Amino acid sequence: MPATVIVGTQWGDEGKGKLTDLLAKEMTVVVRYQGGHNAGHTIVVGGETFALQLLPSGVLYDHITPVIGNGVVVDPKVLLDEIDTLTRAGVDCSRLKLSGSAHLIMPYHQEIDALTERYLGRNKLGTTKRGIGPAYADKAARVGIRVQDLLDPKIFRQKLDVALKEKNQILAKVYNRLPLSADDIAARYLDEYAPKLAPLIDDTVAIVHRALDAGEEVLLEGAQATFLDLDHGTYPFVTSSNPVAGGACIGAGVGPRDIGRVIGIAKAYVTRVGSGPFPTELEDEVGDLLVDRGHEYGTNTGRRRRTGWFDAVMIRQAAWLNSLSEVALTKLDVLDTLETLKVCVAYEADGVRYDHMPYHQSTLHDATPVYEELPGWQSDTSGATELAQLPKQARAYVEFLAEQTGVAINLVGVGPGREQFVRFGGS
Ligand code: GDP
Ligand code: IMO
Ligand code: MG
Repeated sequence: MPATVIVGTQWGDEGKGKLTDLLAKEMTVVVRYQGGHNAGHTIVVGGETFALQLLPSGVLYDHITPVIGNGVVVDPKVLLDEIDTLTRAGVDCSRLKLSGSAHLIMPYHQEIDALTERYLGRNKLGTTKRGIGPAYADKAARVGIRVQDLLDPKIFRQKLDVALKEKNQILAKVYNRLPLSADDIAARYLDEYAPKLAPLIDDTVAIVHRALDAGEEVLLEGAQATFLDLDHGTYPFVTSSNPVAGGACIGAGVGPRDIGRVIGIAKAYVTRVGSGPFPTELEDEVGDLLVDRGHEYGTNTGRRRRTGWFDAVMIRQAAWLNSLSEVALTKLDVLDTLETLKVCVAYEADGVRYDHMPYHQSTLHDATPVYEELPGWQSDTSGATELAQLPKQARAYVEFLAEQTGVAINLVGVGPGREQFVRFGGS
Protein backbone atom coordinates (compact mmCIF):
# COMPACT_ATOMS: atom_id res chain seq x y z
CA MET A 1 0.00 0.00 0.00
CA PRO A 2 1.65 3.28 -1.04
CA ALA A 3 2.13 5.98 1.58
CA THR A 4 0.17 9.20 2.07
CA VAL A 5 1.91 12.55 2.50
CA ILE A 6 0.49 15.53 4.38
CA VAL A 7 2.10 18.76 3.26
CA GLY A 8 1.50 22.39 4.17
CA THR A 9 0.70 24.49 1.10
CA GLN A 10 1.22 27.98 2.53
CA TRP A 11 3.69 29.27 5.16
CA GLY A 12 2.98 26.75 7.91
CA ASP A 13 0.46 26.28 10.72
CA GLU A 14 -2.28 25.16 8.33
CA GLY A 15 -3.41 22.40 10.70
CA LYS A 16 -1.09 19.54 9.73
CA GLY A 17 -1.20 18.16 13.27
CA LYS A 18 -4.96 18.02 13.34
CA LEU A 19 -5.24 16.40 9.91
CA THR A 20 -2.51 13.87 10.68
CA ASP A 21 -4.32 12.98 13.88
CA LEU A 22 -7.59 12.62 12.00
CA LEU A 23 -6.09 10.30 9.37
CA ALA A 24 -4.00 8.38 11.92
CA LYS A 25 -7.02 6.21 12.70
CA GLU A 26 -6.47 4.42 9.38
CA MET A 27 -2.65 4.28 9.61
CA THR A 28 -0.17 2.00 11.33
CA VAL A 29 2.94 4.15 10.96
CA VAL A 30 3.20 7.97 11.07
CA VAL A 31 6.56 9.49 10.13
CA ARG A 32 7.85 13.04 10.62
CA TYR A 33 10.17 13.52 7.64
CA GLN A 34 11.89 16.90 8.08
CA GLY A 35 12.23 19.96 10.26
CA GLY A 36 12.72 19.89 13.97
CA HIS A 37 11.29 21.65 16.99
CA ASN A 38 10.66 24.76 14.90
CA ALA A 39 7.34 22.99 14.22
CA GLY A 40 4.34 23.25 16.51
CA HIS A 41 1.51 20.88 15.64
CA THR A 42 -1.65 21.26 17.68
CA ILE A 43 -4.19 18.53 18.31
CA VAL A 44 -7.30 19.09 20.36
CA VAL A 45 -8.88 15.92 21.75
CA GLY A 46 -11.90 16.11 24.00
CA GLY A 47 -11.07 19.68 25.03
CA GLU A 48 -7.46 18.80 25.85
CA THR A 49 -4.76 20.48 23.73
CA PHE A 50 -1.52 18.78 22.75
CA ALA A 51 1.15 20.93 21.05
CA LEU A 52 3.74 18.64 19.50
CA GLN A 53 7.13 19.79 18.31
CA LEU A 54 9.08 16.70 17.38
CA LEU A 55 6.76 13.78 17.94
CA PRO A 56 4.64 12.70 14.97
CA SER A 57 1.00 13.60 15.50
CA GLY A 58 -0.04 9.92 15.34
CA VAL A 59 1.51 9.38 18.78
CA LEU A 60 -1.85 9.85 20.46
CA TYR A 61 -3.18 6.60 19.00
CA ASP A 62 -2.13 3.31 20.61
CA HIS A 63 -2.07 1.34 17.35
CA ILE A 64 0.40 3.72 15.67
CA THR A 65 4.16 3.39 15.46
CA PRO A 66 5.33 7.02 15.52
CA VAL A 67 8.61 7.53 13.67
CA ILE A 68 11.07 10.41 13.63
CA GLY A 69 12.69 9.98 10.23
CA ASN A 70 16.25 10.57 9.07
CA GLY A 71 15.32 13.95 7.59
CA VAL A 72 14.53 15.49 10.98
CA VAL A 73 17.00 17.44 13.12
CA VAL A 74 16.65 16.44 16.75
CA ASP A 75 17.37 18.37 19.92
CA PRO A 76 17.57 15.46 22.38
CA LYS A 77 16.57 17.51 25.40
CA VAL A 78 13.47 18.82 23.66
CA LEU A 79 12.55 15.32 22.54
CA LEU A 80 12.96 13.86 26.04
CA ASP A 81 10.99 16.73 27.60
CA GLU A 82 8.21 16.23 25.06
CA ILE A 83 8.08 12.52 25.80
CA ASP A 84 7.95 13.29 29.54
CA THR A 85 5.15 15.81 29.15
CA LEU A 86 3.05 13.45 27.04
CA THR A 87 3.71 10.51 29.34
CA ARG A 88 2.54 12.58 32.30
CA ALA A 89 -0.62 13.38 30.32
CA GLY A 90 -1.23 9.64 29.98
CA VAL A 91 0.09 9.15 26.42
CA ASP A 92 2.19 6.03 25.87
CA CYS A 93 5.29 7.07 23.91
CA SER A 94 7.09 3.73 24.19
CA ARG A 95 6.39 2.80 20.57
CA LEU A 96 8.34 5.81 19.27
CA LYS A 97 11.17 5.05 16.85
CA LEU A 98 13.98 7.49 16.21
CA SER A 99 16.13 7.25 13.08
CA GLY A 100 19.80 6.67 13.80
CA SER A 101 20.55 8.81 10.73
CA ALA A 102 18.72 11.91 11.93
CA HIS A 103 21.07 14.75 12.82
CA LEU A 104 21.45 16.16 16.31
CA ILE A 105 20.94 19.79 17.15
CA MET A 106 23.91 20.78 19.29
CA PRO A 107 24.19 23.70 21.73
CA TYR A 108 26.35 25.65 19.27
CA HIS A 109 23.63 25.39 16.60
CA GLN A 110 21.15 27.17 18.77
CA GLU A 111 23.65 29.82 19.81
CA ILE A 112 24.76 30.49 16.22
CA ASP A 113 21.12 30.68 15.04
CA ALA A 114 20.40 33.47 17.53
CA LEU A 115 23.68 35.27 16.82
CA THR A 116 23.21 35.16 13.05
CA GLU A 117 19.75 36.66 13.44
CA ARG A 118 21.15 39.41 15.63
CA TYR A 119 23.87 40.22 13.10
CA LEU A 120 21.36 40.31 10.25
CA GLY A 121 19.60 43.09 12.16
CA ARG A 122 16.83 44.59 10.04
CA ASN A 123 17.32 41.82 7.50
CA LYS A 124 16.77 39.01 9.97
CA LEU A 125 14.72 36.02 8.84
CA GLY A 126 12.70 35.76 12.03
CA THR A 127 13.78 32.17 12.65
CA THR A 128 12.54 30.24 15.65
CA LYS A 129 16.13 30.36 17.03
CA ARG A 130 16.06 26.62 17.63
CA GLY A 131 19.29 25.92 15.76
CA ILE A 132 17.52 24.43 12.74
CA GLY A 133 19.44 26.29 10.01
CA PRO A 134 22.91 25.74 11.54
CA ALA A 135 22.15 22.02 12.14
CA TYR A 136 21.12 21.47 8.50
CA ALA A 137 24.12 23.54 7.37
CA ASP A 138 26.45 21.19 9.27
CA LYS A 139 24.65 18.19 7.78
CA ALA A 140 25.32 19.55 4.28
CA ALA A 141 28.90 20.46 5.21
CA ARG A 142 29.33 16.88 6.50
CA VAL A 143 30.37 17.93 9.98
CA GLY A 144 27.04 17.06 11.60
CA ILE A 145 26.68 14.62 14.48
CA ARG A 146 23.98 11.99 14.06
CA VAL A 147 21.68 10.24 16.49
CA GLN A 148 23.56 6.96 15.95
CA ASP A 149 26.74 8.63 17.20
CA LEU A 150 25.14 8.71 20.65
CA LEU A 151 25.54 4.94 20.68
CA ASP A 152 29.30 5.15 20.18
CA PRO A 153 30.89 7.47 22.77
CA LYS A 154 34.33 7.39 21.14
CA ILE A 155 33.02 8.46 17.73
CA PHE A 156 30.71 11.02 19.32
CA ARG A 157 33.59 12.61 21.21
CA GLN A 158 35.82 12.62 18.13
CA LYS A 159 33.17 14.34 16.03
CA LEU A 160 32.35 16.79 18.79
CA ASP A 161 36.01 17.75 19.23
CA VAL A 162 36.40 18.33 15.49
CA ALA A 163 33.22 20.40 15.30
CA LEU A 164 33.94 22.42 18.43
CA LYS A 165 37.43 23.34 17.27
CA GLU A 166 35.88 25.33 14.45
CA LYS A 167 32.69 26.45 16.25
CA ASN A 168 34.62 27.87 19.18
CA GLN A 169 36.80 29.88 16.81
CA ILE A 170 33.68 31.26 15.19
CA LEU A 171 32.01 31.98 18.51
CA ALA A 172 35.08 33.75 19.89
CA LYS A 173 36.46 35.54 16.83
CA VAL A 174 33.32 36.43 14.92
CA TYR A 175 30.82 36.85 17.72
CA ASN A 176 33.02 37.63 20.71
CA ARG A 177 31.45 34.82 22.76
CA LEU A 178 32.89 32.39 25.27
CA PRO A 179 33.95 28.98 23.96
CA LEU A 180 31.80 25.94 24.69
CA SER A 181 33.23 23.04 26.66
CA ALA A 182 33.40 19.66 24.91
CA ASP A 183 33.39 17.94 28.31
CA ASP A 184 30.14 19.63 29.35
CA ILE A 185 28.41 18.84 26.06
CA ALA A 186 29.65 15.24 26.04
CA ALA A 187 28.48 14.77 29.62
CA ARG A 188 24.99 15.95 28.74
CA TYR A 189 24.63 14.15 25.42
CA LEU A 190 26.38 10.89 26.33
CA ASP A 191 25.63 10.46 30.04
CA GLU A 192 22.22 12.09 30.29
CA TYR A 193 20.47 11.83 26.90
CA ALA A 194 22.02 8.76 25.23
CA PRO A 195 20.84 6.14 27.79
CA LYS A 196 17.29 7.47 27.57
CA LEU A 197 17.23 7.69 23.77
CA ALA A 198 19.05 4.42 23.05
CA PRO A 199 15.94 2.20 23.29
CA LEU A 200 14.17 4.35 20.70
CA ILE A 201 16.94 4.43 18.10
CA ASP A 202 16.25 2.14 15.18
CA ASP A 203 16.46 1.51 11.44
CA THR A 204 13.41 3.55 10.54
CA VAL A 205 13.79 3.01 6.79
CA ALA A 206 13.32 -0.72 7.39
CA ILE A 207 10.32 -0.06 9.66
CA VAL A 208 8.62 2.03 6.96
CA HIS A 209 9.31 -0.47 4.20
CA ARG A 210 8.20 -3.48 6.21
CA ALA A 211 4.89 -1.70 6.85
CA LEU A 212 4.51 -0.77 3.17
CA ASP A 213 5.35 -4.32 2.08
CA ALA A 214 2.77 -5.71 4.51
CA GLY A 215 0.12 -3.55 2.83
CA GLU A 216 -0.20 -1.27 5.86
CA GLU A 217 -1.03 2.43 5.67
CA VAL A 218 1.88 4.78 6.26
CA LEU A 219 1.46 8.51 6.76
CA LEU A 220 4.32 10.92 6.15
CA GLU A 221 3.70 14.10 8.15
CA GLY A 222 5.37 17.24 6.90
CA ALA A 223 6.39 20.14 9.08
CA GLN A 224 6.59 23.77 7.90
CA ALA A 225 5.22 24.17 4.39
CA THR A 226 5.74 24.56 0.65
CA PHE A 227 6.61 28.27 0.75
CA LEU A 228 9.07 27.74 3.61
CA ASP A 229 10.85 25.11 1.49
CA LEU A 230 14.58 25.74 1.09
CA ASP A 231 14.40 25.31 -2.70
CA HIS A 232 10.86 26.33 -3.58
CA GLY A 233 9.89 28.80 -0.88
CA THR A 234 10.32 32.54 -0.63
CA TYR A 235 14.11 32.30 -0.20
CA PRO A 236 15.86 33.47 1.94
CA PHE A 237 12.76 33.71 4.15
CA VAL A 238 12.45 29.94 4.41
CA THR A 239 13.48 27.10 6.67
CA SER A 240 16.53 24.95 5.94
CA SER A 241 14.81 21.71 4.94
CA ASN A 242 12.49 20.51 2.17
CA PRO A 243 8.91 20.29 3.43
CA VAL A 244 7.54 19.63 -0.10
CA ALA A 245 6.30 16.12 -0.86
CA GLY A 246 9.60 15.22 -2.54
CA GLY A 247 11.25 15.86 0.83
CA ALA A 248 9.12 13.07 2.27
CA CYS A 249 10.96 10.59 0.05
CA ILE A 250 14.33 11.73 1.31
CA GLY A 251 13.38 12.26 4.94
CA ALA A 252 11.58 8.94 5.36
CA GLY A 253 13.66 6.83 2.96
CA VAL A 254 11.09 5.93 0.31
CA GLY A 255 11.01 6.42 -3.46
CA PRO A 256 8.40 8.41 -5.39
CA ARG A 257 6.59 5.20 -6.39
CA ASP A 258 6.00 4.45 -2.70
CA ILE A 259 3.76 7.51 -2.44
CA GLY A 260 0.16 7.18 -3.59
CA ARG A 261 -1.58 10.21 -2.18
CA VAL A 262 -0.47 13.74 -1.36
CA ILE A 263 -2.84 15.78 0.73
CA GLY A 264 -2.13 19.50 0.72
CA ILE A 265 -3.38 21.40 3.69
CA ALA A 266 -4.42 25.04 3.42
CA LYS A 267 -6.07 27.54 5.70
CA ALA A 268 -9.18 29.24 4.34
CA TYR A 269 -7.02 32.40 4.55
CA VAL A 270 -3.24 32.74 4.86
CA THR A 271 -0.85 33.26 7.77
CA ARG A 272 2.88 33.67 8.08
CA VAL A 273 5.24 33.99 11.07
CA GLY A 274 8.56 35.74 10.60
CA SER A 275 9.81 37.91 7.76
CA GLY A 276 9.31 37.64 4.01
CA PRO A 277 6.96 38.56 1.18
CA PHE A 278 3.23 38.10 1.65
CA PRO A 279 1.21 39.53 -1.26
CA THR A 280 -2.26 39.21 0.31
CA GLU A 281 -1.27 40.43 3.78
CA LEU A 282 -3.92 42.42 5.63
CA GLU A 283 -2.60 45.14 7.90
CA ASP A 284 -6.01 46.41 8.89
CA GLU A 285 -8.92 45.52 11.16
CA VAL A 286 -9.81 42.46 9.02
CA GLY A 287 -6.29 41.17 9.60
CA ASP A 288 -6.73 41.78 13.36
CA LEU A 289 -10.05 39.95 13.27
CA LEU A 290 -8.41 36.90 11.66
CA VAL A 291 -5.71 36.97 14.36
CA ASP A 292 -8.34 37.17 17.12
CA ARG A 293 -10.85 34.67 15.76
CA GLY A 294 -8.14 32.30 14.50
CA HIS A 295 -5.97 32.62 17.66
CA GLU A 296 -3.11 33.31 15.31
CA TYR A 297 -0.20 33.18 17.71
CA GLY A 298 2.65 30.70 17.19
CA THR A 299 2.08 27.34 18.87
CA ASN A 300 5.74 27.25 19.60
CA THR A 301 7.14 30.75 19.94
CA GLY A 302 3.95 32.65 20.84
CA ARG A 303 4.65 35.19 18.07
CA ARG A 304 1.66 36.93 16.47
CA ARG A 305 1.10 35.53 12.99
CA ARG A 306 0.66 37.85 10.01
CA THR A 307 -2.67 37.25 8.25
CA GLY A 308 -4.09 37.76 4.76
CA TRP A 309 -6.67 36.70 2.20
CA PHE A 310 -6.64 33.25 0.59
CA ASP A 311 -4.15 33.15 -2.25
CA ALA A 312 -5.05 30.76 -5.09
CA VAL A 313 -1.73 31.46 -6.85
CA MET A 314 0.14 29.82 -3.98
CA ILE A 315 -2.02 26.71 -4.05
CA ARG A 316 -1.69 26.34 -7.84
CA GLN A 317 2.06 26.48 -7.36
CA ALA A 318 1.86 24.06 -4.41
CA ALA A 319 -0.11 21.66 -6.65
CA TRP A 320 2.79 21.71 -9.12
CA LEU A 321 5.49 21.34 -6.49
CA ASN A 322 3.85 18.54 -4.51
CA SER A 323 1.65 16.79 -7.09
CA LEU A 324 -1.29 17.31 -4.76
CA SER A 325 -4.07 14.75 -5.00
CA GLU A 326 -6.41 16.94 -2.99
CA VAL A 327 -6.60 19.75 -0.46
CA ALA A 328 -7.90 19.79 3.11
CA LEU A 329 -9.07 23.29 3.97
CA THR A 330 -8.95 24.40 7.62
CA LYS A 331 -10.34 27.24 9.71
CA LEU A 332 -13.33 28.08 7.52
CA ASP A 333 -15.13 28.95 10.78
CA VAL A 334 -12.72 31.83 11.39
CA LEU A 335 -14.32 33.64 8.41
CA ASP A 336 -17.86 33.22 9.79
CA THR A 337 -18.42 36.88 10.72
CA LEU A 338 -17.16 38.57 7.56
CA GLU A 339 -19.58 40.37 5.28
CA THR A 340 -17.49 39.83 2.16
CA LEU A 341 -14.36 37.83 1.39
CA LYS A 342 -11.57 38.42 -1.06
CA VAL A 343 -9.67 35.70 -2.88
CA CYS A 344 -6.46 36.39 -4.77
CA VAL A 345 -6.78 34.76 -8.21
CA ALA A 346 -3.60 36.14 -9.82
CA TYR A 347 -0.79 38.65 -9.28
CA GLU A 348 0.09 41.64 -11.36
CA ALA A 349 3.59 43.09 -11.57
CA ASP A 350 4.91 45.52 -14.16
CA GLY A 351 1.80 45.06 -16.27
CA VAL A 352 2.23 41.27 -16.39
CA ARG A 353 -0.36 38.89 -14.96
CA TYR A 354 0.94 35.85 -13.04
CA ASP A 355 -1.21 32.74 -12.47
CA HIS A 356 1.72 30.97 -10.78
CA MET A 357 4.40 32.24 -8.42
CA PRO A 358 6.88 34.46 -10.27
CA TYR A 359 10.31 32.84 -9.96
CA HIS A 360 12.03 36.15 -9.25
CA GLN A 361 11.74 37.37 -5.68
CA SER A 362 11.75 41.04 -6.70
CA THR A 363 8.68 40.40 -8.86
CA LEU A 364 6.96 38.74 -5.94
CA HIS A 365 7.85 41.65 -3.66
CA ASP A 366 6.29 44.08 -6.15
CA ALA A 367 3.30 41.87 -7.00
CA THR A 368 -0.20 43.24 -6.45
CA PRO A 369 -2.91 40.68 -5.87
CA VAL A 370 -5.84 40.53 -8.30
CA TYR A 371 -8.88 39.89 -6.12
CA GLU A 372 -12.33 38.51 -6.63
CA GLU A 373 -14.86 39.33 -3.96
CA LEU A 374 -17.39 36.83 -2.64
CA PRO A 375 -20.27 37.24 -0.20
CA GLY A 376 -19.75 36.05 3.36
CA TRP A 377 -22.23 33.82 5.22
CA GLN A 378 -22.29 35.55 8.61
CA SER A 379 -23.39 32.53 10.55
CA ASP A 380 -21.71 30.00 12.81
CA THR A 381 -20.27 26.99 10.94
CA SER A 382 -18.42 25.46 13.90
CA GLY A 383 -21.15 22.94 14.64
CA ALA A 384 -21.45 21.65 11.07
CA THR A 385 -20.73 17.95 10.61
CA GLU A 386 -21.97 17.54 7.06
CA LEU A 387 -22.00 19.51 3.89
CA ALA A 388 -25.70 20.32 3.95
CA GLN A 389 -25.19 22.13 7.27
CA LEU A 390 -22.81 24.67 5.75
CA PRO A 391 -24.46 27.90 4.56
CA LYS A 392 -24.66 28.12 0.78
CA GLN A 393 -22.23 31.08 0.64
CA ALA A 394 -19.69 29.02 2.59
CA ARG A 395 -20.07 26.14 0.15
CA ALA A 396 -19.77 28.57 -2.74
CA TYR A 397 -16.58 29.99 -1.19
CA VAL A 398 -15.00 26.52 -0.90
CA GLU A 399 -16.11 25.59 -4.42
CA PHE A 400 -14.60 28.83 -5.73
CA LEU A 401 -11.27 28.01 -4.07
CA ALA A 402 -11.26 24.52 -5.57
CA GLU A 403 -12.09 25.90 -9.02
CA GLN A 404 -9.41 28.59 -8.78
CA THR A 405 -6.68 26.30 -7.51
CA GLY A 406 -7.57 23.38 -9.77
CA VAL A 407 -7.41 20.95 -6.84
CA ALA A 408 -10.35 19.17 -5.22
CA ILE A 409 -11.11 20.15 -1.63
CA ASN A 410 -12.24 17.05 0.23
CA LEU A 411 -12.24 18.12 3.86
CA VAL A 412 -13.16 21.43 5.42
CA GLY A 413 -12.20 22.28 9.01
CA VAL A 414 -14.72 24.20 11.08
CA GLY A 415 -13.01 24.13 14.48
CA PRO A 416 -9.90 22.90 16.29
CA GLY A 417 -11.46 19.68 17.66
CA ARG A 418 -10.45 16.28 16.31
CA GLU A 419 -13.84 15.73 14.70
CA GLN A 420 -14.53 19.30 13.52
CA PHE A 421 -14.19 18.52 9.82
CA VAL A 422 -16.89 18.42 7.16
CA ARG A 423 -16.39 15.98 4.27
CA PHE A 424 -16.75 18.00 1.14
CA GLY A 425 -15.83 15.93 -1.88
CA GLY A 426 -14.72 12.42 -2.74
CA SER A 427 -12.92 10.91 0.27
P1 GDP B 1 0.31 22.91 12.08
O1 GDP B 1 1.63 23.49 12.44
O2 GDP B 1 0.07 22.89 10.60
O3 GDP B 1 0.04 21.57 12.70
O4 GDP B 1 -0.78 23.93 12.67
P2 GDP B 1 -0.77 24.61 14.15
O5 GDP B 1 -1.17 23.60 15.13
O6 GDP B 1 0.51 25.33 14.36
O7 GDP B 1 -1.85 25.75 13.95
C1 GDP B 1 -3.13 25.46 13.57
C2 GDP B 1 -4.07 25.98 14.67
O8 GDP B 1 -5.39 25.99 14.17
C3 GDP B 1 -4.12 25.11 15.89
O9 GDP B 1 -4.32 25.92 17.01
C4 GDP B 1 -5.32 24.20 15.65
O10 GDP B 1 -5.93 23.74 16.84
C5 GDP B 1 -6.22 25.16 14.93
N1 GDP B 1 -7.14 24.55 13.96
C6 GDP B 1 -6.90 23.53 13.09
N2 GDP B 1 -7.97 23.35 12.28
C7 GDP B 1 -8.89 24.29 12.64
C8 GDP B 1 -10.17 24.64 12.15
O11 GDP B 1 -10.70 24.06 11.19
N3 GDP B 1 -10.81 25.68 12.78
C9 GDP B 1 -10.25 26.37 13.83
N4 GDP B 1 -10.92 27.37 14.37
N5 GDP B 1 -9.03 26.05 14.30
C10 GDP B 1 -8.36 25.04 13.71
P1 IMO C 1 4.77 24.18 11.49
O1 IMO C 1 5.27 22.79 11.22
C1 IMO C 1 5.27 28.45 10.68
C2 IMO C 1 9.35 29.86 9.97
C3 IMO C 1 9.97 30.81 10.99
C4 IMO C 1 10.87 31.63 10.08
C5 IMO C 1 11.36 30.60 9.07
C6 IMO C 1 12.75 30.03 9.39
O2 IMO C 1 4.20 24.38 12.83
O3 IMO C 1 3.91 24.67 10.36
P2 IMO C 1 13.61 28.28 11.21
O4 IMO C 1 13.59 28.32 12.71
O5 IMO C 1 12.91 27.10 10.63
O6 IMO C 1 14.99 28.45 10.65
O7 IMO C 1 12.80 29.61 10.75
O8 IMO C 1 10.41 29.55 9.08
N1 IMO C 1 8.84 28.59 10.53
C7 IMO C 1 7.54 28.31 10.67
N2 IMO C 1 6.44 29.05 10.46
N3 IMO C 1 5.13 27.16 11.07
C8 IMO C 1 6.22 26.39 11.26
O9 IMO C 1 6.13 25.06 11.51
C9 IMO C 1 7.50 26.96 11.10
N4 IMO C 1 8.75 26.49 11.23
C10 IMO C 1 9.56 27.50 10.87
O10 IMO C 1 9.00 31.59 11.63
O11 IMO C 1 10.10 32.57 9.37
MG1 MG D 1 2.45 25.00 13.64
